[in-house]
Amino acid sequence: MTVHIGAQRGDIAETVLLPGDPLRAQWVAQNFLEGAVKYNTVRNMFGFTGTYKGNPVSVQGTGMGVPSLSIYVHELFNDFDVQTAIRVGTCGGIGTSKLHDIIIAMAASTDSGINRRITGGLDFAPIADFDLLANAVEIARARGLNYHVGGIATMDRFYDTSNAVDVLESLGVLGLEMETSGLYTIAAQFNRKALTICTVSDVIRTHEATTAQERESTFSAMIELALEAAFK
Ligand code: HPA
Repeated sequence: MTVHIGAQRGDIAETVLLPGDPLRAQWVAQNFLEGAVKYNTVRNMFGFTGTYKGNPVSVQGTGMGVPSLSIYVHELFNDFDVQTAIRVGTCGGIGTSKLHDIIIAMAASTDSGINRRITGGLDFAPIADFDLLANAVEIARARGLNYHVGGIATMDRFYDTSNAVDVLESLGVLGLEMETSGLYTIAAQFNRKALTICTVSDVIRTHEATTAQERESTFSAMIELALEAAFK
């Protein structure tokens, strides 16, 4: 048991999917895993373990933002021996990204101060695990998904009022979300594998947004992509 995860060692698989929303974790467990058992209810941040095509896998909600995700990911790596963590989330599309596209995140720029606290002021470059990234790209291509591979930005503020989007677009960044720089940096600290895959749920410039029903079907393609990439 840890402070935030009320499970025993062994209750959580070596491979974990990480949606922000704990109800999404439940939906993934119900729709994609066999024999899923709920191992965590602390703060209603649900976590489940089951199997996918015979492979043990867990799905754990992380909450929103780097501070919340960092708590869960630290405990999963430090106390539950998780080896592979794949964030499955949504992002705001910028640059060439369109609504419903899938972004496979090579790297996460950030305006969060947390990485600098870890490195003592140095700008660490949070990057995905190459093998997971390569697997996801190969599968996305084979499935004919609308996907991009490139950088995203992990922002501290959802309702950001700075000119960050102009700067990030000029640097070729594809999407905005709030967690991945934390995930990639903590994975580096623990020498574990991490990847973020996100679907574009809203387009920042045009304010287009997906309906709940559309989100579910694009989310399904992303979950299958993440599970196939994990066990390829
Ligand atoms: N900004 C930050 N995070 C997000 C967004 C956004 O527009 N959409 C989904 N996650």
